[in-house]
Amino acid sequence: MVGATGAVGSTMLGILRERAFPADEVVPFASERSAGRKIDWGEQDLPVQALSPESIQGFDIALFSAGGAISEAWAQQFADAGAVVVDNSSFWRMYEHVPLVVSEVNPEALDGHGGIVANPNCSTMQMVVALKPILDAVGIERLVISTYQSVSGTGQRAVEELHDQALAILEAKELPSPTVYPHQIAFNVVPQVERFKDGDDYTTEERKMMAETRKILGRQDIGISATCVRVPVYTGHSESINVQTREDLSPEECRELLSSAPGVVVIDDPGNGLYPLAIDAAGRDEVLVGRIRRDPSHERCLNLWVVGDNLRKGAATNAVQLAELLNERSLLRSAPAA
Ligand SMILES: NC(=O)c1ccc[n+]([C@@H]2O[C@H](COP(=O)([O-])OP(=O)(O)OC[C@H]3O[C@@H](n4cnc5c(N)ncnc54)[C@H](OP(=O)(O)O)[C@@H]3O)[C@@H](O)[C@H]2O)c1
Repeated sequence: MVGATGAVGSTMLGILRERAFPADEVVPFASERSAGRKIDWGEQDLPVQALSPESIQGFDIALFSAGGAISEAWAQQFADAGAVVVDNSSFWRMYEHVPLVVSEVNPEALDGHGGIVANPNCSTMQMVVALKPILDAVGIERLVISTYQSVSGTGQRAVEELHDQALAILEAKELPSPTVYPHQIAFNVVPQVERFKDGDDYTTEERKMMAETRKILGRQDIGISATCVRVPVYTGHSESINVQTREDLSPEECRELLSSAPGVVVIDDPGNGLYPLAIDAAGRDEVLVGRIRRDPSHERCLNLWVVGDNLRKGAATNAVQLAELLNERSLLRSAPAA
């Protein structure tokens, strides 16, 4: 596992154990800074290793969560050494030969892998889990999305930044300058997730949501507009999604459809204060959906409120589920041909 000391990597290690992943051996990799550090693995501690041409030999599966630059530099090398890489970074996602896979949505895409499989962006992941049953039942023409994304989506340093700023404000101390985000995140709402690249007026996160959704769902014709917003929440991304369907779908039918969908839990009794909350989604693997209602401005539009744990289903859980599928379907490179 590459990036084992990070926010996603440490969650992935926990999920491997929770799901009793059938690994003979797990080796945590991180930067030189962490080399030699011990990671708790139940009965034993696992020593963190640094990446080198020698240390990456002999693996069946390599789970990557160390950022795009590390994936660019090392994923192909792991694949060349015989592993199948499941990569959490955005680096490989849009390459045509790399499957971009959500376990409940397009597991069949794993079949054609060439050694690297990409795990989608966290906000995209939870959204497509909720949208796939709707797409299959009535088709989707257009999506208008606004996200409310937690700081753990940026990694461990962002969690510390929110904590330090909030503490300083509550204790009336001098506010530390932001180093991760462009503005203060504590007690604030920032309409920028990632960067505005090359003068684009959409951020890279918004572009990812639009492009990855079309690739995963296999529908280039879906119109999508996304606004991604960072909020001072530790874990759990929330999303307001306006879905324009091809055929009519009532809120009742949508509720029923999603109630039996894999990986989805419907919580939708707003009169009694019951709807998905980030604090309820944190620590769970399912995507929570509620506030299902008609958009009064369009006869074939519904509004949904979709919440998921960005570190679990949004990253680590899906990566481990893909590793399970690769193993169960004999899609590892060391596996005998089926
Ligand atoms: N956070 C999320 O919700 C989320 C969701 C989906 C996808 N992702 C993606 O997952 C990746 C990791 O995100 P994160 O949130 O876990 O970040 P993070 O908390 O900052 O962790 C980064 C990890 O990368 C390791 N690393 C840094 N430089 C390295 C090097 N030269 N060689 C090997 N390892 C190195 C770090 O090790 P050290 O501890 O030694 O520095 C750490 O383990 C990113 O690509 C991110 O876009 C994140």
